[in-house]
Amino acid sequence: MDLQAIANDIVSRMESESDRGKVANYIPELAHVDLNKFGIAIAPIEGEVVTAGDADIPFSIQSISKLFALTLALKRVGATLWQRVGREPSGTAFNSIIQLENERGIPRNPFINPGAIVVSDVLLEGRQPDEALEDVLGLCRRLSNDETVYVDDKVAASETLTGDRNRALANFMKAEGNLREPVDRVLEVYFQQCAIAMSCRQLATAGRYLCAAGQPAGGEDSTVTPERARRLNSLMMTCGLYDASGEFAFRIGIPAKSGVGGGVLGIIPGVASVAAWCPGLDRNGNSRLAIEAFEELVRATGWSVF
Ligand code: DON
Repeated sequence: MDLQAIANDIVSRMESESDRGKVANYIPELAHVDLNKFGIAIAPIEGEVVTAGDADIPFSIQSISKLFALTLALKRVGATLWQRVGREPSGTAFNSIIQLENERGIPRNPFINPGAIVVSDVLLEGRQPDEALEDVLGLCRRLSNDETVYVDDKVAASETLTGDRNRALANFMKAEGNLREPVDRVLEVYFQQCAIAMSCRQLATAGRYLCAAGQPAGGEDSTVTPERARRLNSLMMTCGLYDASGEFAFRIGIPAKSGVGGGVLGIIPGVASVAAWCPGLDRNGNSRLAIEAFEELVRATGWSVF
């Protein structure tokens, strides 16, 4: 299979797409990103990463960081995490508050904002916000094998200024006893982790730990056990694209995680990790063209878990 030709073909199709969605503007700093950008990187379990388009431009990974944070939180507290966060799709928007009151401040899953804020609390407990952040950033650097991965301070500051909805979610959970550390410190970790910037190449490389049954290609690593990799993939499949997770599973059929920066990381277990990026979003807050690119990719390769 000529992955380079497939990636090139996807890029040229995406270039001619006129309906590119809308950039996220509720985080003002993200509204400046050029809608015409599009990149894709395919990291097979072994061998060279294949890239096309703007695959080396770093973008804000936003909610994709929730996957790396969850990986670390599970390592820190194991299955006790599930007493504080559920494992069900929410069927509501990523920043919805509606279920929290009926469900005693226990978020439906670790990928919606309240769930990820609980995960940040777990990473913070007993240490300083910068230590918790270093953990997430360090994991992104180690998995992508690239020390240049960084936190975009402007994006973090922008979200800190406008993050009242996340503050509301966090305060509600604090009132229900589901946050242990002070709200402003938990959100400091959360906003900064969301502001990590990575390119498609770096993200696809990083995702290999989930497609190779927990082992990054060519190295010993204890980031996740094979069992945990399987569970993270299951959560991505059921909850990774929020209220569009069912539609993505139907159309594409692989575990994936999106972010409002326009990135989507998809895992084809045992085969490859793939990242696509275009900053224009659909009404669910997922990248319109990155999703289309995944559809093209599975059509051309036959990759799917089903
Ligand atoms: O908390 C927020 O709203 C953002 N930092 C992350 C949201 C996000 O990426 C949702 N993804 N599609």
